[in-house]
Amino acid sequence: MLETILSVHDVSVRFGGVMAVNHVSFDVRRGEVFTLIGPNGAGKTTMFNLISRIYEPTSGHITFEDTTITDLQPHSIAALGIARTFQNIELFEHATVLQNLLIGHHAHRRAGFWSELFFTPAAQRSELEARLRAEEVIELLDLQHHRNSLVAGLPYGTKPKLLLLDEPSSGLNPEETDSMAWWINDIRSELGITVLMVEHDMSLVSRVSDRVLAMNQGEVLAQGTPVEVQSHPGVIQAYLGTSDDVESLRRAA
Ligand SMILES: Nc1ncnc2c1ncn2[C@@H]1O[C@H](COP(=O)(O)OP(=O)(O)OP(=O)(O)O)[C@@H](O)[C@H]1O
Ligand SMILES: [Mg+2]
Repeated sequence: MLETILSVHDVSVRFGGVMAVNHVSFDVRRGEVFTLIGPNGAGKTTMFNLISRIYEPTSGHITFEDTTITDLQPHSIAALGIARTFQNIELFEHATVLQNLLIGHHAHRRAGFWSELFFTPAAQRSELEARLRAEEVIELLDLQHHRNSLVAGLPYGTKPKLLLLDEPSSGLNPEETDSMAWWINDIRSELGITVLMVEHDMSLVSRVSDRVLAMNQGEVLAQGTPVEVQSHPGVIQAYLGTSDDVESLRRAA
C-alpha cells in the first residue's frame, strides 16, 4: 500500500504569463484513490495533461513505476498502463461505459452467480452486449482518438494500473453520483487499480479518497486525508467567493 506508483517531482508549466502548474510535487501510492481538488483554474486538468504527456512541463519530471514518463511520447503512456477520462464529456455515461470498458467481467455477475460460474449463454450474451455498447458509445461520441487509452482496459486487453478520472461526477444526478462512488471503490478494491481523480463534489471526494491534494492557482495548498484538507484554513480561503464549493466543503468536513 505504501509503494509509490506515480511520482510528480517539482513540475511546472507556463502558458504565456500564467504558471498553470507551479512547482508541484506529490506521490500517488499503489492501490489508493488520490484526489486533486481546488477552485476553477487551479491547474488540476493541466496536471492530468502533464501526466498524459499532452503538455510538456516547463520544468520538473514525472515517474510512473520505474519509468520517467516525461521523456516519453504521448502514445506510449497507455501502453504503460495509464488510462484516463476527459472533463466535460457529459454525454459519456462514465459509470456504465467505463464499467463495460474496464471491468467487463462485472457483466457476468449481473447475469447471476451460477451463470457466472458456468459462463452460460446468458452470461456470454451479457458480456457481448456490454462490449457492443461500449463500442457504440465510443463511435457515437467520436472518441476514436481516445480509443487506445480507453480500450487499454477492455476485459480481454491489458488492465490499466492507474486510472485518471477528471470530474467523474460532472453531469451526473445524485443517484448516479452515488453509483459512481461504489464503482470507484470497486475499481480499487476488486481490481487493484490505482485511481487519481479530479473532483468538485466534496461528498464524493470524502467517500472514496484515501488522500487529497488541494491546489490553487497552480500551487499546492495542502495534502492529507479528506477531512484534514477540507478543514485546512488555506483551502477554505481559496474556495471563498469562488463558487458554492465552499458550502459543500463545509458540509463534507
Ligand atoms: N493550453 C492552454 N493554454 C493556455 N492556458 C491554459 C492551457 N491549459 C490550461 N491553461 C490555463 O491554466 C490554468 C489552469 O487550468 P486548468 O484547466 O488546469 O484548471 P482546473 O483546475 O482543471 O479548473 P476546472 O476546475 O475549471 O476544470 C487556467 O488559468 C487555464 O486558463
Ligand atoms: Mg479541469
